[in-house]
Amino acid sequence: CADCFERGLLTGRHVLINAGPTREAIDPVRYISNHSSGKMGFALAEAAAEAGARVTLVAGPVSQPTPARVERVDVISAVEMLAACESALPADVFIASAAVADYRPASCAPGKLKKDPGSDDGMTLHMVRNPDILATLANHAQRPGLCVGFAAETDDVLGYASDKLTRKNLDLIIANDVSQPGIGFNADENAVTLIDRSLAPQPLAQASKQKLARQIIAVVAARLTNPS
Ligand code: CTP
Ligand code: CA
Repeated sequence: CADCFERGLLTGRHVLINAGPTREAIDPVRYISNHSSGKMGFALAEAAAEAGARVTLVAGPVSQPTPARVERVDVISAVEMLAACESALPADVFIASAAVADYRPASCAPGKLKKDPGSDDGMTLHMVRNPDILATLANHAQRPGLCVGFAAETDDVLGYASDKLTRKNLDLIIANDVSQPGIGFNADENAVTLIDRSLAPQPLAQASKQKLARQIIAVVAARLTNPS
């Protein structure tokens, strides 16, 4: 529905988007992270800005150029990303495209960790759960009117995605099947299914992340105008 996209659809609205991976420090030189490129979130920020919104883009460590007229806040860890997202409130829309690390090392060693020269043993890293940024904002005193999540899944993709929609108190979830080669995580193209609270799945055909971003922003704008 590329034709649904019109400039000015989001004029006067504040759209908050997070994107990219988070990096969880082990010591001053090492971290745990994932392969998220941030492409989908940056494409959404660009499309929202083109639709006239004021856009705040909270970005983990990625190498993507900042889209025109987008206010970018760079962060490293999940805890920092949550703080930056909360600081950006109030917002009309929150789109959580970031691949937030589910766990972080319980503590970051103050100095570079050394191997034990007297032993060939492996090492165990104690990890703790990170905060859920999306669930926190979707249950916040300043909850954005429209909270949108992503769910990259394998197997029962729509089942898992609908569970997250309900569990995290979302208005919309964008599901994609990451077992399909060439789309989704770190790829240039994606194919997604939108699921809303009526649990009616709306598939969007495989396309560039730019094209899908415009379609998603058109759906978001329509929902702000006509809440269901
Ligand atoms: N998310 C988040 N904070 C987290 C984990 C996830 O905000 N600590 C958001 C993601 O940005 C995404 C949605 O929640 O929009 C779903 O992420 P996903 O990793 O699929 O879900 P989890 O709740 O982490 O469940 P699991 O990884 O166990 O499937
Ligand atoms: Ca996760």
